[in-house]
Amino acid sequence: MSKLSIKDLDLKGKHLFIRVDFNVPLASEGQEITSDKRIRASIPTIQYALEHGAALILASHLGRPKGKVNPEMSLRPIALRLSELLKMPVAMAPDCVGAQVSAMLPKPGEILLLENLRFHAQEEANDPVFAKQLASLCDLYVNDAFGTAHRAHASTVGMIEFLPEAAAGLLMEKELTYLSMVTQNPQRPAVAILGGAKVSDKIEIIENLSKIVDRLLIGGAMAYTFLKSQGVPVGKSLVEDDKLDLARTLLLEHKDKLLLPVDHVVASELKEGAASEVVEIVPDGMMGLDIGPRTVELFSSEIAKAKTIIWNGPMGVFEKPPFDKGTVAIAKAVAASEAISVVGGGDSEKALKVAGVADKISHVSTGGGASLEFLSGVILPGVAALTDK
Ligand code: 3PG
Repeated sequence: MSKLSIKDLDLKGKHLFIRVDFNVPLASEGQEITSDKRIRASIPTIQYALEHGAALILASHLGRPKGKVNPEMSLRPIALRLSELLKMPVAMAPDCVGAQVSAMLPKPGEILLLENLRFHAQEEANDPVFAKQLASLCDLYVNDAFGTAHRAHASTVGMIEFLPEAAAGLLMEKELTYLSMVTQNPQRPAVAILGGAKVSDKIEIIENLSKIVDRLLIGGAMAYTFLKSQGVPVGKSLVEDDKLDLARTLLLEHKDKLLLPVDHVVASELKEGAASEVVEIVPDGMMGLDIGPRTVELFSSEIAKAKTIIWNGPMGVFEKPPFDKGTVAIAKAVAASEAISVVGGGDSEKALKVAGVADKISHVSTGGGASLEFLSGVILPGVAALTDK
């Protein structure tokens, strides 16, 4: 990587600010963490820094409190979970800047977790005064928050100019290594699988990946916008009518690469357990809610040939059985392949869990929006801001 790594820094005795992404899903009024994946993913960097004699100041946002203190979005439960995982105390600061925080700064071998950065509106505004206050807490900076690297905020970009060195953490490096591996000169054939509801969310990624991969498999509701653009009947499936021209153009430009579903699981309503049937053409009054078995076969045969696989977005409404089968089958096909596989986005990750194959994937990204932007060819501001090697 062309950016400094935490391994390039002399950490001994230094106050190290690590921007982590502890934006984890919480249930029951902010107390219960429903997935600690992002906390676990930050541990190698934290342990590395502790082993190399740094005093750790960890900082993250949680949710979207919009510049106001909201106890339901406090990072306190995360300090507890982190402390359990590391088997050591993690001190919790009452805020992320100010005299009280400065008075709590850790000693080498200790950890202080700052309170939610977004309790201050200046974080998202990338306010330079706030950025300088954050920077004043530390000697060195590491960004390990890949999931937030697409945001140009005070803690991801602004504070760096007030510090001598800013490096990537181990998770950040791992994410960038895998995502670069599959997008820059990938082993061929390279196959991308894209799903989800809306073409509008995926335009840039379709445009960018169709330049890179050999096959682009399209599932999920967005397939119906593509099918309708070709004059194929889609019943009452979800369609973005204002994107029909775009879908037509994309199909025309990449007709040798883009593959659409050839059959569908349809129902008259989107309800768990709704009566469903498999059809080749969606009848009037019905909506396509999953890819059908022939499509699973077609997509799986492309996946089996691949040496590189990129997957983002489910093939159907997989959280509502019986419309989960297509997504689960694709998850299993990706897991069975020998290819380098990179999966991004929360929904695809949930699908891997449902299919019980998450551990068979080369890399499951901790970034939703960030991995989408990376795959769209965007240079992430949180990466660009780090010190060049
Ligand atoms: C995420 O979960 O995608 C990141 O933590 C960024 O959160 P945001 O979309 O609220 O900026």
